Amino acid sequence: MRIMFVGDVYMKKGREAFDRFFTEAKKLHRPHLVIVNGENIAEGNGLTTSIYKDFMKKGVHGFTMGNHAFSKRYEKSALDEPNVCRPANYGKDVRGNEAIELRLNDETLLLVNLLGRIFMGDPVDNPFTTIDRILEENEADHVLVDFHAEATSEKYAMANYLDGRVDALIGTHTHVPTADETVFPKGLLYISDVGMTGVKHSIIGGNIEQGIRKFVTGVPERVYPENEGLLQFNAVLLDFEQKTIERINYQE
Ligand SMILES: [Fe+2]
Ligand SMILES: [Fe+2]
Repeated sequence: MRIMFVGDVYMKKGREAFDRFFTEAKKLHRPHLVIVNGENIAEGNGLTTSIYKDFMKKGVHGFTMGNHAFSKRYEKSALDEPNVCRPANYGKDVRGNEAIELRLNDETLLLVNLLGRIFMGDPVDNPFTTIDRILEENEADHVLVDFHAEATSEKYAMANYLDGRVDALIGTHTHVPTADETVFPKGLLYISDVGMTGVKHSIIGGNIEQGIRKFVTGVPERVYPENEGLLQFNAVLLDFEQKTIERINYQE
């Protein structure tokens, strides 16, 4: 099973960057399944039903989310769609799927999204005990976990914790691609962060002028996207049989 996992697609320019590079990447790498992190894909973050449907038509099979999963108003949000997976470590009776199963011929892939707790802000449940529970409750041929977290220490702890228990642990959230893709001793495919799909010269997708002002003055303000500049597309290709992980980084 070969999977292309695309890092956080950041708002309108991110969708443009996806359109600009996806066909080429797909032709070259021939994935069986395509997963997209969609936590920032709509304007103002979150994933809308219309973008979900549009991307499913473009050849995406599933979405993971992150700390912005609940940013869209109830009626616009795609959280109830069958191929969308929100972070699993929220409390009980939270809207959306805590894990989803995708099928490829006679094989199944369990897709799980977890939030980290270091430098993240939200008081979510323990991601380590949450993944234990999910692995106990679900059976699948393969498991892919998107660990949406800030700290590389937490990501490496999770990778060692899950080595030999899941096929891949893919980091998202920082929007900065790392160069540490590797195969762990018991076969886990790993990267700390896939990176962001959107405007390259930005402050992790946000407007440069505004982002600088925020740090210079210390005054908090809502982040607006950077809408000018060269586009980038960041993804990884995972091969569960060959046990390989390869970065896919395009830029204009
Ligand atoms: Fe993000
Ligand atoms: Fe995030």
